[in-house]
Amino acid sequence: MRALIGRGARRLQRARVFFGHGTDNAWDESAALVLHALGLPHFEDTVYDRRVGAREARRAEELITRRIRERIPAVYLTGQTWFAGLSFRVDPRVLIPRSPIAELIERRFAPWIDPRRVRRILDVGTGSGCIAIASAKAFPRAHVDAVDISADALEVAAINVRRHRLGRRVRLVRGDHFSALGAERYDIIVSNPPYVGRRELASLPPEYRHEPPLALAAGRAGLDSVRIILGESADHLLPEGLLVVEVGNTERAVRRAFKQLPFLWLEFERGGGGVFLLSAEQLRARGR
Ligand SMILES: C[S@@+](CC[C@H](N)C(=O)[O-])C[C@H]1O[C@@H](n2cnc3c(N)ncnc32)[C@H](O)[C@@H]1O
Repeated sequence: MRALIGRGARRLQRARVFFGHGTDNAWDESAALVLHALGLPHFEDTVYDRRVGAREARRAEELITRRIRERIPAVYLTGQTWFAGLSFRVDPRVLIPRSPIAELIERRFAPWIDPRRVRRILDVGTGSGCIAIASAKAFPRAHVDAVDISADALEVAAINVRRHRLGRRVRLVRGDHFSALGAERYDIIVSNPPYVGRRELASLPPEYRHEPPLALAAGRAGLDSVRIILGESADHLLPEGLLVVEVGNTERAVRRAFKQLPFLWLEFERGGGGVFLLSAEQLRARGR
């Protein structure tokens, strides 16, 4: 098995595929594809010492060939990924979960909020439902509203809500940002919205073209969605509430466009950045 995975990894490296949709290196990407092709679990160490027959090896090689030829991210080929330690069904109707916000959810947003008082959470642009579902698991007494404008994405989110048996605490809502929420207010609003500007979009590796454009593109400067979130969050946060938003490489544009806002830019132990935090109070002060 190790030899087969190693061979796959060398092929991926030679072909210069892009890593960053779930794995960040050729070995892990090859292992995910080979084990999927063979229908084997990758969390059992013994699997790596298993003998592989010629037909099985061919099946695995064929999947690696697809990865290389079509530049499809491995997660779309396996249909499965992990986020905050939880497994998610993923297909090209949704962005592949990879937000550093996972780390924040695992820490229950400490030290920024008292987790004992969190009862209502909103996830804007839920995609696969990963942030909403992980948040519901992290706060077992909370109800989570998960909004997306894409009916396709919500179908995948519904599969994941069922998988994690959270139908009573995670509500999927179709809508444009806050428009379907009436006057609802939340302790935490969390969002990984589309934030890629036109120039960056054109320069992304081909793997990104398999993701829904709706999940990435956010106008010329990448600010279209974040502008709405910053403008409307104050009306949907409880007095002590918190807004957490990922904007990735658009961080500089956000700092420049909203100079008057006292963003706190978070750091993550497992890497990644471009995530800011604002309190309800700070957002309200800006509106005065
Ligand atoms: C970057 S993806 C994030 C998906 C998921 N939250 C994650 O972190 O993997 C952004 C999501 O926002 C959704 N979206 C785009 N425009 C929207 C809008 N106007 N209102 C609500 N959701 C929107 C997209 O369909 C997509 O699922």
